[in-house]
Amino acid sequence: MNTVIVGTQWGDEGKGKIIDILSAKVDYIVRYQGGSNAGHTVVVDGKEYIFHLIPSGILHPGKICCIGNGVVIDPESLVKEIEGLAALGINIDGRLKISGSAHVILPYHKILDKLREGKRTHRIGTTGRGIGPCYSDKINRCGIRVIDLLNPAVLKNKLKDNLKEKNEIFKKVYNHPGYSFNSLYQEYLRYGDILSGRVSDIALLLNQACRRKKDILFEGAQGTFLDIDFGTYPFVTSSSATAGGACIGTGISPDKLDKIIGVTKAYTTRVGEGPFPTEFSLEFGNLIRGKGNEFGATTGRPRRCGWFDGVMVKGAIMLNGITDMAVMKLDVLDGLKSIKICTGYKYRGKVFKDFPADFTVLTKALPVYKEVPGWQGPINHIRRYKDLPPGVRNYLSFLSDFLGVSFSILSVGSYRSETIFV
Ligand code: IMP
Repeated sequence: MNTVIVGTQWGDEGKGKIIDILSAKVDYIVRYQGGSNAGHTVVVDGKEYIFHLIPSGILHPGKICCIGNGVVIDPESLVKEIEGLAALGINIDGRLKISGSAHVILPYHKILDKLREGKRTHRIGTTGRGIGPCYSDKINRCGIRVIDLLNPAVLKNKLKDNLKEKNEIFKKVYNHPGYSFNSLYQEYLRYGDILSGRVSDIALLLNQACRRKKDILFEGAQGTFLDIDFGTYPFVTSSSATAGGACIGTGISPDKLDKIIGVTKAYTTRVGEGPFPTEFSLEFGNLIRGKGNEFGATTGRPRRCGWFDGVMVKGAIMLNGITDMAVMKLDVLDGLKSIKICTGYKYRGKVFKDFPADFTVLTKALPVYKEVPGWQGPINHIRRYKDLPPGVRNYLSFLSDFLGVSFSILSVGSYRSETIFV
């Protein structure tokens, strides 16, 4: 069985916890897009682990974790994560496989990311990890791939070509001194040496695994509305964060995907700039941010918080072909008198029931809300659906009917055990 885990909002839905739980039942766990802009948080035995590039399934002994061709890899960050796992005594020998076709982030991508943001009238609020500039190089066909780090002659030519053009841009557009070839060349050859034993043909490996009837979990990063095509462009990331990205980013054909699980928070959050129709007022936003510890796992930035946006999640269900959902962080809504759910957007007298592609509508529309009663907490000790307070069940049943999907996993706390399987 091949399952894709995908975020249905703007990322940070709690995919890390779901991936961690489902990893126990599969043989392979694969990242297919994004880079170290992602931060998956997993809490095991009271200890918090944050993963940026390595699939969080690595915490399960014996599982093979892959980084697909669709990911952009910052080797500095990857090597740190590998060393961090070693320091914790987690053995990853033979278990971490990296696609040779994945593109590599260089220091000039990270600087360019920040310099570009500085020049924009409307900032995107990127993570500053060099994601956009690296994917731009990939599309411009001048990117450097993991496999190039293993071939000094190829790396030399590609890096020289890149620096010839980029240093001109750095100096003339950004008044930045640029980069010297030698130090970058030596540094990236060294990364090549460190990573070489883990470089694999991931497409071949996964297709062979399918033939052997192994189970694969595809780990999406970010979320549907940060997708380069279907997100709230230009306030998006630079990769295909929807389920289709799992095929493009690994070399597995669409017919081999059996199940798409959508992950959603019981409310909505967003980091960075961009439209957010259901965003809370400042004071209430601060309250929920504090209760839900809503701070970015990568940058530590406070996340913006808002009510559950049903229009948005309905759109995500359609775009990803979601058959099954996990609802996260229900416990954060404990103790509220009432809870709102956005069921439409109102703009110039018209109610939109589908997520509008028109950016102006999205920015100016007012949410149409359904209000339901809240519940008293705490609920984090509850392990069976039927034991949940009526308010929680009522909220979930409204959401499930509205979205037209069933919920198979409910999360009532950050620990693995604080989970209800429906
Ligand atoms: P970039 O991916 O660093 O280029 O950032 C583009 C946008 O995506 C910004 O609004 C970021 O805050 C957002 N973003 C990128 N990665 C994540 C993530 O893992 N969770 C939430 N937002 C993210």
